[in-house]
Amino acid sequence: MFNITALSVEDSIDNAPQSENRNRPESRGRSLPSLFIGISNTDDEDEEPSSSINSANNLDVINKHLALVNKGSCSSPRAGPRPLESVKSTDCLENLISPNAGLQQRSSCAETPRVGMVVNSPFEPHPMVAEAWENLRKSLVLFKGKPVGTIAALDSTEEALNYNQVFVRDFVPSALAFLMNGEPDIVKNFLLKALRLQAREKRIDWFTLGEGVMPASFKVVPSAKGDTIVPDFGESAIGRVAPVDSGFWWIILLRAYTKSTGDYTLADMPDIQRGMRLILSICLAEGFDTFPTLLCADGCCMIDRRMGIYGAPIEIQALFFLALRCAKVLLKPEDGGKEFLERIEKRLQALSFHIRSYFWMDFQQLNIIYRYKTEEYSHTAVNKFNVIPDSIPDWVFDFMPMKGGYFIGNVSPARMDFRWFCLGNCIAILGSLATPEQEAAIMDLFEERWSDLIGEMPLKITYPALEGNEWKIVTGSDPKNTRWSYHNGGSWPVLLWLLTAASIKTGRPQIARRAIELVESRLSKDGWAEYYDGKRGRYVGKQARKFQTWSIAGYLVSKMLLEDPSHLGMIALEEHRKSKPASITRSASWTA
Ligand code: GLC
Repeated sequence: MFNITALSVEDSIDNAPQSENRNRPESRGRSLPSLFIGISNTDDEDEEPSSSINSANNLDVINKHLALVNKGSCSSPRAGPRPLESVKSTDCLENLISPNAGLQQRSSCAETPRVGMVVNSPFEPHPMVAEAWENLRKSLVLFKGKPVGTIAALDSTEEALNYNQVFVRDFVPSALAFLMNGEPDIVKNFLLKALRLQAREKRIDWFTLGEGVMPASFKVVPSAKGDTIVPDFGESAIGRVAPVDSGFWWIILLRAYTKSTGDYTLADMPDIQRGMRLILSICLAEGFDTFPTLLCADGCCMIDRRMGIYGAPIEIQALFFLALRCAKVLLKPEDGGKEFLERIEKRLQALSFHIRSYFWMDFQQLNIIYRYKTEEYSHTAVNKFNVIPDSIPDWVFDFMPMKGGYFIGNVSPARMDFRWFCLGNCIAILGSLATPEQEAAIMDLFEERWSDLIGEMPLKITYPALEGNEWKIVTGSDPKNTRWSYHNGGSWPVLLWLLTAASIKTGRPQIARRAIELVESRLSKDGWAEYYDGKRGRYVGKQARKFQTWSIAGYLVSKMLLEDPSHLGMIALEEHRKSKPASITRSASWTA
């Protein structure tokens, strides 16, 4: 076991230089070798046919890769990683362009993993690491010979449904793994491909979707004329919901790519800038809202089935916030960008105030709500949403520790969804939507409620499960989302990378290390399952796919983050300077 000193978050909040913005110094904008620069759009799917290769036919590529792995011929081109003890979170977040910037880039198809083979690594290479890389490479999807993403799952024992597609959200951990391993080209290809798909007309029946909508997923279809790409914007998805998260993940990934490589030429391309503006114009559009949160349909994100998350789900609000912050760094003022930058700034302030104030829950806040008066009218109302205290579910009184807190699932008129949602809370830490005190309290909650939120297999996607009549009403009697299964209280190994990133940002990597140990005890033996069922996540999920790519990639990202925490800067941002702390009272959990 390694002794890790806490990284000081405060260091990163106030003292970090405002180093990542459009007025970046030359050094930050330095270009990568010429291979990187000539971004031509020759990847159009209507071009000349080429041999059709997809993941199933990647054997050549994989064999090449395996040969290299077996020879052990790849040593890291980078200097050995720094131990966590010597890294300040300031370094992780802002000061380092990237550990990979300026590296000779490697191809995603035929190179060996660096992880696990690092000379002088303080970490014993776990055998699962090499296995994970092997599986991750098998999941590559090629379009006209170029890798453009990874397939959701490579499980031949189950009906593929849409698991044979490249999902935008699923690709994020894969992309981060490749970036951390010095292989940015697949990420660039993916970003450009998704941009192309965004430009297509999107219709469901007689209705045309917003121009900025990004696909939930796409598949490469081989034909006699060559490969074509078929996207799904929600028109084929179960429930027909458009993925609100895809556009946000795309922007977040664009920044990760830029931060990791130091290469701004991709983000600066007029088409990419336009793609960003299109996404922003949907989510910053004026409407009837009285709040800065983004109003959503049920099932519009990782939880893509009816689960009662309609309204203002924390997952989307946290991604929205992080994506706005990333766009602020990447957007150029030209062509209307300036106006968007102004709108972003205003929205960021309003959104952070709103979420920090009204979504935050801890022992003290719960007690306040428990004593709420109702039917208050006028500006002076304390119970602004007219939440009836009787609507507070029983479980939350027992669940709430004296030390710890979290952002609840949803807030809307007379409705607070007190459920815990892992992804939204972790992203709120990474984007600094949470105040430093709130960040620490969320990590406290993980520790205080370990068996509920981590259990035997990390991590609970949501807690607790809906049961009985509530399950019937809220999910529409969904047989896939029965209690403690799938989205309804199931456990998802992919969430490990988010926990790891959050625990490094808050200076508590030991939390991630404990969770990783649990994953290493089972995940590979269980065939890299998609999710686990049961209160403690003990059972491989009823309908869980095996060789689920994001379970594999999530594990790799966690390992690489712990090995070299400077990678954190790709997906985390220091506190947004202008957002004032909300007027929330400090709870016992923050001072304890
Ligand atoms: C399931 C998940 C969704 C994921 C997809 C592919 O539908 O709910 O979040 O993107 O599978 O893995």
